[in-house]
Amino acid sequence: MPKCVFVTGASSGIGLAILNDLAGKGFRVVGSTRSLLRNCNLVQDLKAQYGDCAQFVEMDVDDDVSVEGGVKKAYEFLGDIDFLICNTGRGSLGSLEEHPLEEGRKLFETNVFGTLRVLKKIIPNMRKRRSGTIIFVGSIGGLVGIPFQSHYSATKFAIEAYAECLRQELRSFGIKVSVVRPGDIKTKFNESTKKYESPNSPYANNLSKFWESTLEIEKHAPEASFVSRKIGKIIKKATIKEGYVVADWKTLLAMKINRLIPQNVKEKLVRRYYGIDGDDKPEVC
Ligand SMILES: NC(=O)c1ccc[n+]([C@@H]2O[C@H](COP(=O)([O-])OP(=O)(O)OC[C@H]3O[C@@H](n4cnc5c(N)ncnc54)[C@H](OP(=O)(O)O)[C@@H]3O)[C@@H](O)[C@H]2O)c1
Repeated sequence: MPKCVFVTGASSGIGLAILNDLAGKGFRVVGSTRSLLRNCNLVQDLKAQYGDCAQFVEMDVDDDVSVEGGVKKAYEFLGDIDFLICNTGRGSLGSLEEHPLEEGRKLFETNVFGTLRVLKKIIPNMRKRRSGTIIFVGSIGGLVGIPFQSHYSATKFAIEAYAECLRQELRSFGIKVSVVRPGDIKTKFNESTKKYESPNSPYANNLSKFWESTLEIEKHAPEASFVSRKIGKIIKKATIKEGYVVADWKTLLAMKINRLIPQNVKEKLVRRYYGIDGDDKPEVC
């Protein structure tokens, strides 16, 4: 029997790459999107390519009723879910001071509570079957605080904490939990990141340097298939690690060194990476 996979946030980027990669490898897959209508071409392409082995369901992770319906449809199609890949997520750019708190709440709703909403619908079945694997798509930003993306980083740190706790709670039920932590990947992520920036902001200089660096890094970043191939390998393993950094070799090395160096050096390296380590003293305004 082919193994069954449910991927949230699968209409673009990493989620879509996972869907295609795993369907191509013979898994039965369901991916979620907030709008089947908006993605009708994608839905048709998937059907044309993989026939009855792949399907999209409509699901907004922010909404209880929508998640209930989406997960129900996924079970109707798949029968069971062997692998749950919690991938839905978006970013938000701006200084903490200038970020509306409401936006922080909304980001937590999608990246954290949205993930938990889906989990809470799927864990009971995995627990009763005494098998299943949950993979969170975290981020390097969940290991290292990214300036001007504080809410985003905080959501990914929260995912790390939930994963660590869940792994221990679910261990005796035969359910595995892991976090895949991509570095910069070329997707629509930066495009769909909400931006809170104003030209008169005291942060304007560093914020624009940060964003320019981010967009430049993205140009040279690996494609989403880089992450999906890694996930394809992980889910075939008998034993999986607590987490995997999936990034170019420089970032991999930096993340290894990261564990050994003092916090102030770590933060300096992050600022350098984003081109904001100058002695820039903005005027008080
Ligand atoms: N790209 C990177 O550099 C990078 C690095 C590290 C981690 N990540 C993580 O990788 C994951 C995927 O990101 P990506 O880079 O592939 O970005 P993406 O191309 O923008 O894809 C994001 C996906 O999430 C879905 N989504 C967004 N808001 C949603 C909501 N409220 N409810 C349900 N689905 C929602 C979107 O689907 P619909 O709009 O169709 O609903 C879309 O399929 C995210 O968790 C992100 O934090 C990305």
